[in-house]
Amino acid sequence: MLKIDVYICVKNDALLSFIRTYLDSSKNITLHIEQSADALRTSLSLNDSPELLILDEGRAKEIDHNDFSDIPNKIIFSAQGITTHEGWSHYPADKWKETLDKFIEGVGNIENDTFAKFPFKVLKSVDIPVCDIYLEIKKDGSPHHIKLFKMNEHIVQEQVEKYLDKGVLTGKIEQENKMQFLNSISNLLYKKMKDGYAPDIVGNSLDTAISILKDVGFNSTSTQLIDGVVESINTSLTDNKSKNVKVITDLLNSQSSRFYKKAHISSMLGIQILAMEDWTTHKHQEIMTYLSLMCDVTLTKPEMLFIRDKKQLDQSSLSTEDKQIVWSHARDAFDLMQNYNECPIETDLLVLEHHGNKNGIGFPDSLQPDLSKITQIFRICEDFTIEILKHKELKKNIKVNDVFNDLYKMHNKKSLHAYIDKLKKCFF
Ligand SMILES: [Fe+2]
Repeated sequence: MLKIDVYICVKNDALLSFIRTYLDSSKNITLHIEQSADALRTSLSLNDSPELLILDEGRAKEIDHNDFSDIPNKIIFSAQGITTHEGWSHYPADKWKETLDKFIEGVGNIENDTFAKFPFKVLKSVDIPVCDIYLEIKKDGSPHHIKLFKMNEHIVQEQVEKYLDKGVLTGKIEQENKMQFLNSISNLLYKKMKDGYAPDIVGNSLDTAISILKDVGFNSTSTQLIDGVVESINTSLTDNKSKNVKVITDLLNSQSSRFYKKAHISSMLGIQILAMEDWTTHKHQEIMTYLSLMCDVTLTKPEMLFIRDKKQLDQSSLSTEDKQIVWSHARDAFDLMQNYNECPIETDLLVLEHHGNKNGIGFPDSLQPDLSKITQIFRICEDFTIEILKHKELKKNIKVNDVFNDLYKMHNKKSLHAYIDKLKKCFF
């Protein structure tokens, strides 16, 4: 259920208690109470615009009304309801209940469950949608849905790109069609993966799965896609065992996202090292693939994917909030995986420690020997992958020898150097 935000900044008296009690009981409203005009300004600068702002006459005199022009519904309660601030509705304080009832009725459109949201970028994987696709726009402060693509008619991909470029993040479909819509995408991509392995198809499927599981949680659709990707990677490996460089080149040149490229190359190389160890079974191969795919699943921006230590995090241009996401991403991914019973046992624990800290928080100065061998191998492979991805994205020539020299410097333990030696054997 979509919740709407209401801000209130009035004197701490009966009016506040009445409104608070009344709106708190409304399940679709989140009420924010601010004590002063300053507190209100600060709070609004840190949050999205609310649907409604309520002030009393005193607070209305203390604010610059231009600061609140984005808010669609603005009410001032005064003794007689006679105030003259343009763009605001004015009501007598004793009519608070009728006024709020009118508002709640008006936002009925917002709250109805007719429409469900989905991540807009999944439309990149859709050719012909099984239902109508809408875009929500605000008109006179209320949401309206315009039909963007019609059921059973081809989606114009240029239009999808145009909306994505404009920053559209969510699309809307009628609630009753939601699961059918997501499943149709899932089935289509899964079938394409089965028909023939290609980095773009698999990469696209993974991106879609990640979008879906972030937005609607783990469900059969997203887990099916992730399983399909794991299977495809493992199949592609058996076909390409002696062609590492070719596979890596294809992947680096593919249109797939940085997330997928990193996951696939790390996993591929990790499996090559595992094959040189005498303790491994095919199960470890599967674990390595899941680990590569799931470890960074909670990172929200591509630039986050290259950060591997505290110094890089501190020096990044990410916001404080984004830095926190990176800082705890291993633990967050571990938490998310608790809803996903299909992946091999203990993969979640490897995800938790994939940067070297057993609690999944932060980055240690160096890797400790008590980490699982799979994690140690994965770290080496991921570090290598990040370096070659960086070179590729900067359009620099990749000198594999130089990358290996950097890798030896990055890790100071003998056991890790032994894994780097093994990784080297995949290339020379
Ligand atoms: Fe990570």
